[in-house]
Amino acid sequence: MVLTRRRFLASAGAMAATPAIADSAAATAPGFPQGFLWGASTAAYQIEGAVREDGRGPSIWDTFSHTPGAIKNGDTGDVACDHYHRWPGDFDLLRQGGFSAYRFSVSWPRVLPEGTGTVNPKGLDFYDRLVDALLAARIRPFLCLYHWDLPQALQDRGGWHNRDIAAWFADYAEVVAARLGDRVGDWAMLNEPSVVALFGHGLGGHAPNLKGRASFFLALHLQNLAQGAALARLRSAKPGLRLGTVLNLQPVRPEADTPADRQAAVIWDAMWNRSCMDPLLKGTYPEVVHADIEPILGPDDLSTIHQPIDFLGVNYYSRMVVKADAGAMFGTAWGKNAAKRYTAMGWPVEPRGLYDQLAEIRDRYGNIPVYVTENGAAYEDVVTPSGKIYDKERVDFLRDHLAMVRTAIAEGCNVKGYLVWSLLDNFEWAFGYSKRFGIVYVDYPTQRRIPKQSYYWLGQVARTGRLA
Ligand code: FCB
Repeated sequence: MVLTRRRFLASAGAMAATPAIADSAAATAPGFPQGFLWGASTAAYQIEGAVREDGRGPSIWDTFSHTPGAIKNGDTGDVACDHYHRWPGDFDLLRQGGFSAYRFSVSWPRVLPEGTGTVNPKGLDFYDRLVDALLAARIRPFLCLYHWDLPQALQDRGGWHNRDIAAWFADYAEVVAARLGDRVGDWAMLNEPSVVALFGHGLGGHAPNLKGRASFFLALHLQNLAQGAALARLRSAKPGLRLGTVLNLQPVRPEADTPADRQAAVIWDAMWNRSCMDPLLKGTYPEVVHADIEPILGPDDLSTIHQPIDFLGVNYYSRMVVKADAGAMFGTAWGKNAAKRYTAMGWPVEPRGLYDQLAEIRDRYGNIPVYVTENGAAYEDVVTPSGKIYDKERVDFLRDHLAMVRTAIAEGCNVKGYLVWSLLDNFEWAFGYSKRFGIVYVDYPTQRRIPKQSYYWLGQVARTGRLA
């Protein structure tokens, strides 16, 4: 049955309502549109390694991962997938798999070891080689300027708590675009500012491991500001680029259908989703965060943040359930989730939430072009004695989510492509190497790559445009 937006809205308040689209929709409907992009995403610190090579400066994730007790098993990104040296083979995998797009991030401290000032030519050379190789393989590069590895030198000057970061980031964006803007068309400014704000600056657990409510809002707002400054800078310095940003979006539900929990959901939705989307796309912050934002809002901030964008990158992993908790930092706490399936991260498997999110962008944010820039799952992958990996759960996860993307497109959502997280198993932040999200397995001691069943499956979907 096809779910209409109206029907969803009618059922949204009722927690026990049976979704009109089941979370494991059968893959029987027509295929994806011609020209739909299929790809994979990665991030610099999670795969590159080579942290002290060719003039790269330290990032906050180097500092944090070398802090005893910060990362599971004491893992660091020092070597990661050694992609810095092994990228030709990794790109062969992309090409052979049948993928037409690849999203990667540029490491700010590789390009500007001190964060500002002197450019490290060898850092730019590296990304130059990557881009040429992608284009030669007919793979469209999506470049993300910031996927969490802030130069440590900038953290020492206040990082995302110093308003100067808007200018630092715009300058850095311009340096990268001056070198790569002739060949890279798609530019994402940030990856998931809400995650950087919450775990890097609010609750802690990610670099730079700061905590507090005011700290959260300042980091969030200054990321928005820096994003706006960089969008404006690139728009004027390099007209013709397609500019956007990448947000982690999660529909939020209350645990119980009570006024307190419903209000908790409104607050969390405002902090997590709307405080990123609204200032960028509408030029306002949601009302429930005004008291936190007003004291830090400069007179021109909202007009700087409110920029036209050519695409929105949506990272989707699951919905969120919250409940009221007067003692907690934001007056909310995670609620219980009644999902039937969970990934190895303990995240609920909720494909329907992706449909809801895409429909919401269509209905409330002007149906701007969207790429699903991350979606995927960690599972306990097992290498069989014959060296194969049958990751059926991941295939099911991808199929169920793609079925939702296809339905959303059929209902008018402007979705242009899907990039799985991730091409390779990699350094999963605080979880180190213990969680595997790749469609390609990495045997870390030998750095051998083993494509999983999901790689072959998704490649077939990419080639045929149909869910097998
Ligand atoms: C996202 C991050 C990405 C990866 C996935 C699992 O929040 O953008 O780097 O860690 O989660």
